[in-house]
Amino acid sequence: MSVEIKLIAAPETYALRKQELRKNMTLSEKIPGDFEESTLHLGLYENNKLACIATFMPAENDLFKENQYRLRGMATDEKHQKKGYGKAVLLKAEEILKEKGIDLIWCNARVVALDFYKKLGYEIIGGEFDIPQIGGHYVMFKNI
Ligand SMILES: CC(C)(COP(=O)(O)OP(=O)(O)OC[C@H]1O[C@@H](n2cnc3c(N)ncnc32)[C@H](O)[C@@H]1OP(=O)(O)O)[C@@H](O)C(=O)NCCC(=O)NCCS
Repeated sequence: MSVEIKLIAAPETYALRKQELRKNMTLSEKIPGDFEESTLHLGLYENNKLACIATFMPAENDLFKENQYRLRGMATDEKHQKKGYGKAVLLKAEEILKEKGIDLIWCNARVVALDFYKKLGYEIIGGEFDIPQIGGHYVMFKNI
């Protein structure tokens, strides 16, 4: 079995985003900033098939003073969850972003994914808030 993580283009993420993050929703799988030069999309391929994705883009959140990037569109294909792929993608992103001088990653974490992020060293800041159609979220961050 081969496993490879690489930088990919935004449209390559759309099918998996739709499947795992926009199921039965009218929300678009496209994210503003997808095509900015500073935006990174990582894809993990198992046997040359896309199994896990995540997108990282600059975004100023007043909660943080550090050089920050925001994580969006974190998803592992249901068939491949709990195999360490999400973790591998986030750790690879930390490596790439640290080299760029970024020292903090934050995201709006779905309540169902809180423990995944906690295991990766992310902390909650602030209270729960609702995102229409998706549900409860917390801001989570990690100093890298
Ligand atoms: C959340 C998600 C990205 C996790 O991806 P994954 O590839 O299954 O995660 P990993 O296998 O790398 O898990 C890493 C660790 O977190 C744990 N973990 C993963 N998902 C978890 C969850 N939902 N709750 C609790 N722990 C979880 C794993 O057991 C593993 O623990 P270990 O290191 O002790 O073995 C994936 O479940 C997913 O795509 N969910 C649907 C979309 C979604 O909710 N995305 C997040 C939006 S904020």
